[in-house]
Amino acid sequence: MRISVIGAGYVGLTTAACLAQIGHDVFCGESDEKKLSTLQACVMPIFEPHLQRIVKNACSAERLRFGSTEQAIGWGDAIFICVGTPPLANGDADLSALEAVARMIAKQASGYRLVVEKSTVPVQTGAQLRKHLSVHSTNGLKYDVASNPEFLREGSSIEDFLHPDRIVIGVDSPRPEKILREIYQPIVDQRFDCPVHTSCPRHSRPTFLVVETASAELIKHASNSFLAMKISFINMVANLCEAVGADVTEVATGMGLDPRIGPAFLRPGIGFGGFCFPKDVQAFIRIAEKSGCDFSLLREVEKINQDRIGRFIEKLRGEVWVMRGKKIAVWGLAFKPNTDDVRFAPSIALIRALLDEGATVSAYDPQATEKSKLVLPNISYCENPYEAAEGSDAVLIVTEWEQFRDMDWRRLKSIMARPLILDGRNMLESKQVTSCGFRYVSIGRDLVLPPQNGLSANEVHYRSAALQKSWSDSSVVSLD
Ligand code: UDX
Repeated sequence: MRISVIGAGYVGLTTAACLAQIGHDVFCGESDEKKLSTLQACVMPIFEPHLQRIVKNACSAERLRFGSTEQAIGWGDAIFICVGTPPLANGDADLSALEAVARMIAKQASGYRLVVEKSTVPVQTGAQLRKHLSVHSTNGLKYDVASNPEFLREGSSIEDFLHPDRIVIGVDSPRPEKILREIYQPIVDQRFDCPVHTSCPRHSRPTFLVVETASAELIKHASNSFLAMKISFINMVANLCEAVGADVTEVATGMGLDPRIGPAFLRPGIGFGGFCFPKDVQAFIRIAEKSGCDFSLLREVEKINQDRIGRFIEKLRGEVWVMRGKKIAVWGLAFKPNTDDVRFAPSIALIRALLDEGATVSAYDPQATEKSKLVLPNISYCENPYEAAEGSDAVLIVTEWEQFRDMDWRRLKSIMARPLILDGRNMLESKQVTSCGFRYVSIGRDLVLPPQNGLSANEVHYRSAALQKSWSDSSVVSLD
C-alpha cells in the first residue's frame, strides 16, 4: 500500500522504516529542511539500533523515500501523523504541529484518505482532527480518522514495532479498520524478513485490538503512566529497604513472580526519564483534572521520581562529605542505554546539582555526548570511562550501559583518588567490585564495604547497616 508518514522523529522514522520493511511503499515527510537533507543522504538524526541499515535498504529498494510534508501528503492512501507533541509549560501536550499537518491535509489532499494519529495525543484529539479536516477541507477530501498509538521503546524501537505485544487501533467505522488490518497483516502474521534477528525466533502473533478512538488514545497515556507508577513504586520500596536493611532486588524478585505484578519495570534507580514518561504522566494528570477527575496518585508518582536525584546526592554527600572541590566521574548520560537521547535524562538534573554544590564533573557516554554538550556545555566529556574516572573521588553509574559491567576494576582503582562507586542503576554485583577494594553504594540494597583492617564480613555488614541508617537519619556516622 502507498503510505505517508509525516514527521521523522523516533516514532515517524521507526514507523516509516518498518512499514517499508514489511513491504509497503512509504513516503516520509519532514518539515525541518536540515534534517530532511541528512535523511535524504541516509544519515540518521538519532542513534537507534538497526534503523540506519533498514532505511538504507528500503531506500535502495525504492520502498522508502524522504521529502517535504507537502510531497508526503500527496503520496499515500493512508497518512500516519507522527509529529512531536512536546509538553507546554502547564504540562498540556502541544498539538500545534499536529494541527498544522491537519490543515495541510485538508487544503491539499483530495479523494479518500485514512488519517492516522500515531503521535502521543490527549484523549478527544481524534474528534478534534475530524472536525478540523471537515472545516478546512477545500479539495473534496473524503477521509476517516483513526488512532494507532505506538508503544515503542527507544533503543529497541525496531524490534518493538515488528514484534509487538499488541497493535491498538481506534476507529469509528469498518473502512479504517479494514485498511489498518491490511497495513499490519504481515506483523499480525509475523510474516516478513526480520532485520533484527538473523534467525528470527518464532514470535507469538500480536493481538490486533480494535477499540473506540477515545479508548485507543487513553490506552497510550494510561499504559505509560502505569509503567511510570510501577517504577516509582519500586523506588519507594527501595527507600524503605534502605531504612530497614532489606534488599530491594530480592523484594522485586518476590513481587515479580506473581504474574498479576510481573517482573518488568521493577528496577529501582535514580528515576525514569526520556521524552515519554515524564511528559505523558504530566499530560495525563492535566487531561484528568480538566475532566474533573482526581489523579493525585500520578502526582505522587512524579514527586517520588523527582526526589530520586536529591536522594542520590545525599548518598554521595554521606560518602565524600564536602562536595565543593570534589571531582566526580559520571558514567552514562543517556536516559537509558542503547540510545543517544538525553531529553529529561536523570543525568542532566544530577550533574546540574553536582555543579551547584561546587563539584567538578567528568562524564562519559558511548553515544549521548554530542547531544549532552548542547544542554551541559560546562563539564568535561571523556573518550572512555577510565579517562572520566582519572583522579576522581567517586564514580557515579547513571545509565546502565552494558560496557560498565566489565571494567578493569584494578586499573580503575589505581587511577581514582579513592575507590568509591555509587551505582544509580544497581547494575553491578557488589562483590564484583568490593573484592577489588571498592566501597560500593547502590539503591535499596546493602551498602557493601571492602574488607578492611581485619574487620569480619559480619562486622563490615553491621557497620554498613549503621551507615545506611545514618542516611535515613541524615546524621554522619564515622567509621573510626
Ligand atoms: C517508554 C515506554 O516503555 C514505551 O512503551 C513508550 O512507547 C514510550 O515510552 P522509553 O521512554 O523509550 O519507552 O523507555 P523505557 O524503556 O520505558 O524507560 C523509561 C525510563 O524508565 C528510563 O529512564 C529507564 O531508565 C527507566 N526505568 C525503566 C527504570 O528506572 N526502571 C525500570 O524498571 C524500567
